Amino acid sequence: MKPYAVAALAALLIAAAAGALIRFGLVNGFPTWAANYTAVRHAHSHLMYFGWGSLAIMALIWHHLPILTGRPLPRGVHVQMTATTVAAFLSFPAFWVNGYAPTQVGNLSLPLGSIISGINGLTWVAFILLYTQMTWRLPRRPLAVRLWDGAIALLVLACVGVLGLMTLVALDHPSFFLHQAALHLFLDLYAVGWFGVALLGLLWAWTGEDAVRNRQVPVMPLVICLAPTFFLGMAPMLVPPALSAVAMLGNVLAVGMLGRHGLLLWEQRRRLPLLVRFSLLALAVHVLIGVVIIFPGVWTWAAGTQLRVFFLHNLLLGWLSSVLIGLTAAQWISLATAARQILDALWIGGVCVMLVALLGLEMGGIVPVSSRFWLELAAWSSLPLVGVVLLQLVRATRSDADVDVVETITPASMMTG
Ligand code: HEM
Repeated sequence: MKPYAVAALAALLIAAAAGALIRFGLVNGFPTWAANYTAVRHAHSHLMYFGWGSLAIMALIWHHLPILTGRPLPRGVHVQMTATTVAAFLSFPAFWVNGYAPTQVGNLSLPLGSIISGINGLTWVAFILLYTQMTWRLPRRPLAVRLWDGAIALLVLACVGVLGLMTLVALDHPSFFLHQAALHLFLDLYAVGWFGVALLGLLWAWTGEDAVRNRQVPVMPLVICLAPTFFLGMAPMLVPPALSAVAMLGNVLAVGMLGRHGLLLWEQRRRLPLLVRFSLLALAVHVLIGVVIIFPGVWTWAAGTQLRVFFLHNLLLGWLSSVLIGLTAAQWISLATAARQILDALWIGGVCVMLVALLGLEMGGIVPVSSRFWLELAAWSSLPLVGVVLLQLVRATRSDADVDVVETITPASMMTG
């Protein structure tokens, strides 16, 4: 699975560079070759979702499944992973030109972004079918596998959002509420649901579930409570009070259960790479946001700000990306201890500064510092992140034979170490 993990890192590098370009563009203006801000933002976010998050998670799931189940990988996994990789990379140029808007190709006006998203969706269906085949009627379902079952259920639900959106557009349906509901069903459950629950599965696969054998570790209740939370991603005035009450309740219960996983994983921190330990702090911030949002007026107030960008990057950069880089590097990238420590420190520093800057942008009224300062800080903090990913990628593409001082970290060596 290493080649797919390396491809995922390459996707992260390209998408992070595009993110840095937008950040500097917001300070100094955009170059003519990247003038369509919305399209570049879509290219960034879709490559991050399809090429980085999903591809790295799938590579790690396929890596762990034979060990957890004692079964071989089904035939077809490499075809699926190759198709997922190619489709994910194609999303970048497809969105770069015009985002979701139609693009002129010869005589045809084609919605390239929607077409490539649909193709990506088909490769996820292939992943789900192969996963179901491999885990069908296991005599015992390990904790990690049960979490991946739940994550995939939320991925299916998120895909229903895409199908719903395509149907509404095809029928030219006038309901703004339904359009927004379908959009957020996809966007929010893809990140909070599929990514979030799959990550927990990867972490329990990494640490082993021995330490929590006789303890309550929520799986299906977590998945059920996460399902309605996408309503909180919509504009509050669009959501009827009964639905927002269900979403709030689901959200507060879900973050409580995520907090439980976080605390149990924190107890196992000696078995976890440094970046994963750091990611648990971002998970704690995510839990805190879920608690704060239940206070009256907070959701409505936050929806009128750009705090969504802070929320998303705490979740996707602080939590998701730190876990995935930590596990990918520990599994497949040999590095001298000092070099790894430097790269980890740069990543942690870059993420922290960027999150502070994104928060500062919205809290500017409280701290007497200009918006330009926070924008510049966010822009400069993206550079160490791009640099760290580039170095990890260079290292990953070198064969182990070229490595001078090798320290490969595995769960087993960490347990004994
Ligand atoms: C080097 C790290 C990153 C940088 C510099 C960066 C930069 C940005 C910027 C500048 C925006 C637009 C914000 C705005 O409109 O005000 C954005 C949006 C977004 N980013 Fe990132 N980002 C990074 C990492 C990530 C990661 C790791 C993910 C997901 C795995 C991600 C997913 C998104 C999403 C979903 C949006 C919202 C897109 C939209 O609303 O259309 N970003 N990012």
